[in-house]
Amino acid sequence: MTHQVVVGLAGDPAPGERKLAFVDGRSIVLINVDGTIHAIDNSCPHSGASLASGQLEGCVLRCPAHGLRFDLRTGCVAGAGSLSLTKFSVHEADGKLVVSLDGQVTGPAGAQACPAAT
Ligand code: FES
Repeated sequence: MTHQVVVGLAGDPAPGERKLAFVDGRSIVLINVDGTIHAIDNSCPHSGASLASGQLEGCVLRCPAHGLRFDLRTGCVAGAGSLSLTKFSVHEADGKLVVSLDGQVTGPAGAQACPAAT
């Protein structure tokens, strides 16, 4: 059974904005890129820095600590690299924004692997 948690209202954050949600001891960053909301764990897979204030360029989020760039669509390091964000499935239901905590798309417990650097 999937663990789904309401983290806000539908449409929040607005396009171009982001917000933090704290759920079951996790800090999750919600980022709206052109109307698509991405939900990621607020911990960089490189060394654990907060990603909430990372610079956003399109769908690429730059970690403020050491500058690794992650594609929010895949969770993978932009270009090449085997590190990946922990992403969560997110959807809207009944006017609310819902994150599926068991539905990690990528990351240590996820199923999708990022391509290794060549
Ligand atoms: S902690 Fe994010 S790049 Fe090092």
